Amino acid sequence: MRDDLDLEIGTTSEACVAALAAARESHLGFRMDAARHVNMAIEADPACVLAQVMKGYMAMLLSNTAVLGAVDQRIATARRTVSEATPREHLHLAALEAWRHGRNARAIAAWEEILASHPRDLTALRLAHFAYFWSAGDAARMRASVERVLPHWPDGVRGRGWVLGMHGFACEESGDYALAERQGRRAVEIDASDLWAIHAVAHVMEMQSRHAEGAAWVEAGAAHLGAATNFRFHLAWHRALFLLEGGARTELLACYDDSVRDHASPLVQGQPDLYIDVQNAASLLMRLELLGVDVGSRWNELADKAEARIGDHLIPFTVPHWMMALAATGRWAACDAVLAALRDASTSAAEDSDASHVARIALAAAEGVRAHRRGAHAAAVAALFPVRHDLVRLGGSHAQRDVLWQIMTDAARCAGDAALMEDLVAEVRAARAPHASPAFYQGISRSAGLSGT
Ligand SMILES: [Fe+2]
Repeated sequence: MRDDLDLEIGTTSEACVAALAAARESHLGFRMDAARHVNMAIEADPACVLAQVMKGYMAMLLSNTAVLGAVDQRIATARRTVSEATPREHLHLAALEAWRHGRNARAIAAWEEILASHPRDLTALRLAHFAYFWSAGDAARMRASVERVLPHWPDGVRGRGWVLGMHGFACEESGDYALAERQGRRAVEIDASDLWAIHAVAHVMEMQSRHAEGAAWVEAGAAHLGAATNFRFHLAWHRALFLLEGGARTELLACYDDSVRDHASPLVQGQPDLYIDVQNAASLLMRLELLGVDVGSRWNELADKAEARIGDHLIPFTVPHWMMALAATGRWAACDAVLAALRDASTSAAEDSDASHVARIALAAAEGVRAHRRGAHAAAVAALFPVRHDLVRLGGSHAQRDVLWQIMTDAARCAGDAALMEDLVAEVRAARAPHASPAFYQGISRSAGLSGT
């Protein structure tokens, strides 16, 4: 049968096709009911390979090693009926298997192969988009991926907004802010609840230090968070950053408790250690502490989660954030265990997974974070300085990685290494000034003890 995007699916169940289309839309829109729709698709036709693969994808998106067994079950179930599947479904299953085993480059290749012949496959596009972002740290390829399919999404075609939103974000991470904002705003005009497009424009405003405008933009977008997943907390984090750079300090603790790390939310209770939530929380606490704000006991619950996730490197950028929580609470044995697991990963990863290289970068970042907290500032600089331009390989955005640069410059200042500190600030400004506003780096300048921006 064919779905609403004219993509062939190996099933004879109309209900299955409809549920898969609904799941795709929910996934693209960060809506909570994606899993429910996937379950409905499986219920309608358990033999449908794409339905089983979508279930596996939804689990993988949690980026938690605890779900890998469930993913294996989905792969095994899909394998039983794959002979009936379409070539596109074969590739989706191959992508899921590669992703499951940490072969992210291979997964990206499978999604790109799908897109070469099926540029309307929005799920392949979004998953490749995220993999470029989280596991490849490659903004140029993330942008090129979207631009290859963009001609197949002309004005007026339903679904074009999703593509524009992805293009907007990829352009932002590539430093093309004018086009990023234009595409993001176009997507929001098409669908005011397109959270990824709202987010893309927020990133532009962050990089251009449009703090008041950015806070207002995110607040306006909050009207569309009713059905949103935990991604709502990331938007709240962006709002907190705008307020912080606008001068807010201790009052942000209430913002942290109410919207960034809202323990009363069923979403936090359901996923208390979701990678993006942990990144948001640790990053904001760290930034506040660098500004001299007492964050109280807020690190403790994050550190509890971190201890339970030692050795989970599915999203490498999360690891230095786990380390921030463990070090802030003085759990030095756990810190050592994190580093040992990263050392192990750097030497034992599969040759084609690229994971060993990434693990070495994560190791340096985590060592730097720990040393900074212990007051071993020279050691923190020694760990972070050589990998400062490789941190992008851990995934995450420019705005997110900024906290690691702030830690590095703060360590240089505390170590009394004035020459290095000023070199770092000059390097950041020179390297990125053509793109981001100089004011974006005010946190780094402040960490370095320099006045102004
Ligand atoms: Fe973001």
